[in-house]
Amino acid sequence: MANKEVNVWGSNRFWQRSAGWVTGFSAMLLLWLTFDTVPQITMGTDADIQNGITKRVPGPTVINYEITYEMSEKRGHEVPYIGGNDGKGNSLFTKKEKFFGRDDWTEEEAAELLHLGKLGSQAKNCMDCHTLLGNGAYYAPDLTKAWLDPMWGPEGPYMGMTGKATKEEAMAEFLVNPSQYPTHARMMPNLGITEKEAIGLVAFLKHMSSIDTNGFPRNFGKIKGAVNGK
Ligand code: HEC
Repeated sequence: MANKEVNVWGSNRFWQRSAGWVTGFSAMLLLWLTFDTVPQITMGTDADIQNGITKRVPGPTVINYEITYEMSEKRGHEVPYIGGNDGKGNSLFTKKEKFFGRDDWTEEEAAELLHLGKLGSQAKNCMDCHTLLGNGAYYAPDLTKAWLDPMWGPEGPYMGMTGKATKEEAMAEFLVNPSQYPTHARMMPNLGITEKEAIGLVAFLKHMSSIDTNGFPRNFGKIKGAVNGK
């Protein structure tokens, strides 16, 4: 039988080859993106903080510093600043802030607290109701930047309600007895969180708020008082 002229669009060979090239290209792109992402999401160290090196995910000792969330003109959204802002978009890493009475938590101690908090957040399944770094539910407030929520600060209601003198103590007290301090229409149930677990969870939340999430969650900066205390 004579060879029939086949239009290129109807040729199996063409589609097989195209599928091969597209799959190959996508695999290479994914590999490249993976290698590009890993250093960006790798947690920094105390040495980075000491040397003024900004990491997207700062080291655990970030809990010894004041964290603020301010508008970056260059990037068009809020970014977390650690220990002060030099006015040019860089963290100063100088302004310390006591965390449960200390601003000298060592790298091991701080990492241990974060670990405790991470395990606690998994054991008590905060994501069942809250969102953390884009994962979870929207039944309750997004926790990614909860540490920066002004309602925990001196101008908010929680320090007074819990009778605590600092933000971290107020947050820990809330986590141990959430159903005692309802503020919204929905109440957080008691999850059997111990005082020790609560300290870890608050460290976990403080560290999470220092992560540069490219301005996510988007609506956070619009919360009154959340940005520059205004
Ligand atoms: C069963 C659902 C549920 C679970 C599970 C849950 N929460 Fe909540 N949480 C809520 C609700 C509802 C609120 C709002 C309560 C209010 O405002 O009175 C809340 C409020 C909060 C707040 C204050 C919100 C803010 O903007 O600062 C924090 C912090 C918090 N939860 C932390 C946690 C942590 C940490 C866990 C996991 C250990 C957790 N929650 C697990 C329902 C839940």
